[in-house]
Amino acid sequence: MAQHIGRVAAVTGAGSGNGKAIAEMLLEEGAQVALLDIAGDSIAQLAHDHANAVAVEVDVADVESVRAAADRLRSEFGHVDILVNNAGIVRGTNFGELSVEEWNEVFAVNSTGPFLVSQAAAPLLEAGAAARGARATSAIVNITSVEAHIVISSSGHPQIHYNASKGALHQLTRALAVECAASRIRVNAVAPGFIETPFTRPVLGNPEVLAWLLERTPLGRVGQPQDVADAVSFLASDKASWVTGSTLFVDGGWTVY
Ligand SMILES: NC(=O)c1ccc[n+]([C@@H]2O[C@H](COP(=O)([O-])OP(=O)(O)OC[C@H]3O[C@@H](n4cnc5c(N)ncnc54)[C@H](O)[C@@H]3O)[C@@H](O)[C@H]2O)c1
Repeated sequence: MAQHIGRVAAVTGAGSGNGKAIAEMLLEEGAQVALLDIAGDSIAQLAHDHANAVAVEVDVADVESVRAAADRLRSEFGHVDILVNNAGIVRGTNFGELSVEEWNEVFAVNSTGPFLVSQAAAPLLEAGAAARGARATSAIVNITSVEAHIVISSSGHPQIHYNASKGALHQLTRALAVECAASRIRVNAVAPGFIETPFTRPVLGNPEVLAWLLERTPLGRVGQPQDVADAVSFLASDKASWVTGSTLFVDGGWTVY
């Protein structure tokens, strides 16, 4: 399938895990892709391997860095059709000991980052939709989490700041869907369950946790980055041209229970 031919996409956190799979899928489907990541070496190889990929080092939590990245996108492509706010971090500290510094660190990347990048990219996304005709739309896809909706912390999962930051991103998605509709920018979220990436490897490497997880997942397997990429590809495409403010759960049925 080549449903993104001629489109320009920007993917944050493209150097690893879900972001890498999303970037590779959009490339495969014909898009030109800007790979945005704080870890420059992680995106350099991917950019080297793909003629249609450009590596842009950025800290999504830093205003100046995001402005510079948007300037680079403007000079490189002139517009953007698809923005995927995927960069995210998790930290594990119990509520009682959690410092405000760690709370702010997680919010800066997971909630403020998507706000800053969306704001900087909005004129480029509006230009992308306008260039494709009167009814065309551009797309922002935010990678939230099932943990924006449910709390797994009671089982010894010390990440209230992750829960809260992803909850904020969930509501940012809905607010921006309303805010950006007049600019013909659709804004949706993909909420993954446990996906096998460097992010979750320490947890999934524990056989007890893995068994617990599989028991609670109706489809009986751990998710793969490709599962997330497939959902993003749909929401970013014209097949979703009347979908905005929605969340697509990619969790093997975890949140159905
Ligand atoms: N893996 C899962 O099970 C899972 C589940 C639900 C949601 N998610 C979400 O998916 C997204 C990607 O997770 P992953 O598992 O691929 O993680 P990962 O750690 O493998 O990749 C995250 C990427 O983001 C980059 N990054 C971190 N901070 C950044 C910053 N300030 N600016 C720019 N880039 C930055 C990292 O360098 C890395 O390349 C995250 O938002 C995460 O919350 C993951």
